[in-house]
Amino acid sequence: MVRIPNQKTVLITGASVGIGRELAKLFALDGYDLVLVARDRVRLADFADELQNQSGITAKSFPLDLTGNSAPQFLFDQLARENIAVDVLVNNSGYFLDPMLARKSGKILNVASTAGFQPGPTMAVY
Ligand SMILES: NC(=O)c1ccc[n+]([C@@H]2O[C@H](COP(=O)([O-])OP(=O)(O)OC[C@H]3O[C@@H](n4cnc5c(N)ncnc54)[C@H](OP(=O)(O)O)[C@@H]3O)[C@@H](O)[C@H]2O)c1
Repeated sequence: MVRIPNQKTVLITGASVGIGRELAKLFALDGYDLVLVARDRVRLADFADELQNQSGITAKSFPLDLTGNSAPQFLFDQLARENIAVDVLVNNSGYFLDPMLARKSGKILNVASTAGFQPGPTMAVY
């Protein structure tokens, strides 16, 4: 893979598999540094290593269960401690909006499904 220099950072929740994983690869190709969040620590760390080796970007993994009430704030505080400013958020959380407003710069991509609004068997939580 050829890296296009960018030096911006994208935070992707649910980044270890599926759509989040594919988006992470695309952002890495565009030269973004990555902050990756999901629960499975090993899978996430392996993916971060893979992206760093292939693209030369910095990929940090933050294993975290985002259903915890304090999880978004915990992540926010952790990033602040490490001086990581999020330029793009791929998520459905508004917790990172204030710093973007202060910087007058930032992007949020909400990924969800219309299936979340439709009743269906075994889909109550979704
Ligand atoms: N796939 C589709 O056809 C489709 C269609 C329409 C919309 N969508 C939407 O697109 C989004 C992604 O779908 P997907 O199919 O790519 O999902 P997926 O393959 O199931 O991947 C989900 C990702 O989220 C992580 N995750 C799950 N629960 C988590 C939690 N509590 N805390 C932190 N991370 C968590 C998973 O890793 P861990 O298990 O390690 O936490 C994984 O990285 C969803 O919002 C879905 O509703 C998908």
